[in-house]
Amino acid sequence: MGDSPSSLETGTLKRASGRARHAAIIMDGNGRWAKKRALPRAIGHQRGVEAVRRLVRGIAPMELDCLTLYAFSSENWKRSETEVDDLMNLMRKFIKSDLPEFVANDVQLKIIGDWRSLAPDIVVMLEDALAQTANGSRKLAVALNYGGQNEITRAAVKAAEQGVITTESIAANLDTADLPPLDLLIRTSGEIRLSNFLLWQAAYAEMLFVDTLWPDFKPEHLERALDDFAQRERRYGGR
Ligand code: IPE
Ligand code: IPE
Ligand code: MG
Repeated sequence: MGDSPSSLETGTLKRASGRARHAAIIMDGNGRWAKKRALPRAIGHQRGVEAVRRLVRGIAPMELDCLTLYAFSSENWKRSETEVDDLMNLMRKFIKSDLPEFVANDVQLKIIGDWRSLAPDIVVMLEDALAQTANGSRKLAVALNYGGQNEITRAAVKAAEQGVITTESIAANLDTADLPPLDLLIRTSGEIRLSNFLLWQAAYAEMLFVDTLWPDFKPEHLERALDDFAQRERRYGGR
C-alpha cells in the first residue's frame, strides 16, 4: 500500500502506479444490453444489479480499499416515470436483500450525492444500512442522486459558511472527504464521457473506458482494469 502515489502530494517520480486503493465505475449500458436481447430496459437494470452483487462478492478483501459505483445520477430523473420507479424499486430490493451480506463481509457502505432528497422510505433504509455497516473496513460508496457539479457547489457553500474558501476546504466538504483519493475511473458501454461523475476527484485519476455493457461486467474485468492501472505512469504534472 505504501508505495502507491495515490495522493496529489506524492508521485513526482516516474514510476508505475502500484496498487489502486480507490476505483470508481460508471455502470453504463443496461438499456443497450436489454435492447440487444429485445427485453425491457427494466430487465437490463435487474441484470445490472446482479453485476453489482457479483462484483462486490468477487473482489478480494486486499484488492481495493474503496469501490465507488455510479448508480443514479442527478440527471437520471429525466427518464420516464416508469424507468425511475423501476430503478428506485430495485434499490429498495437490493438494500433489503444484500445488507446482511455487506455486514457479514466487512463492507462499509457509503452514500454520495444528494441522497437525502430521495423518497423518505429509501432515506430511512439507507440510514439504517449506513449504521449497520459503519464498522466495516472495505468501503463501498454508492452514488445516488449524484451530480459532480452539485457536490462541488454544496461543498463550496459549506466552506463559505465555515469562512475559508480554499481548494483544501472545498475538498474537505465533498461527499467523498472520508474516502481515499480516486485512483482509477472506469466507464463501461463504450461511452467516453464523465456524465457529471466525480468531476473534482477525477483531476488526476487514471481513466479507463471499456466496451463491455454493465450487465456483462465481471470481477475479471475489474481485475484486468486494476492490472492495467498498475502499469500506468502517474506524473501529477511533475517530472
Ligand atoms: C446505466 O445504464 C444505468 C443507469 C443510468 C441507472 P443505462 O440505463 O444508462 O443504459 P444505456 O446507456 O441506456 O444502455
Ligand atoms: C451515467 O450514465 C449515470 C449512471 C451510470 C448512473 P447515463 O447513461 O445516465 O449517462 P449519459 O446520459 O449517457 O451521459
Ligand atoms: Mg446510459
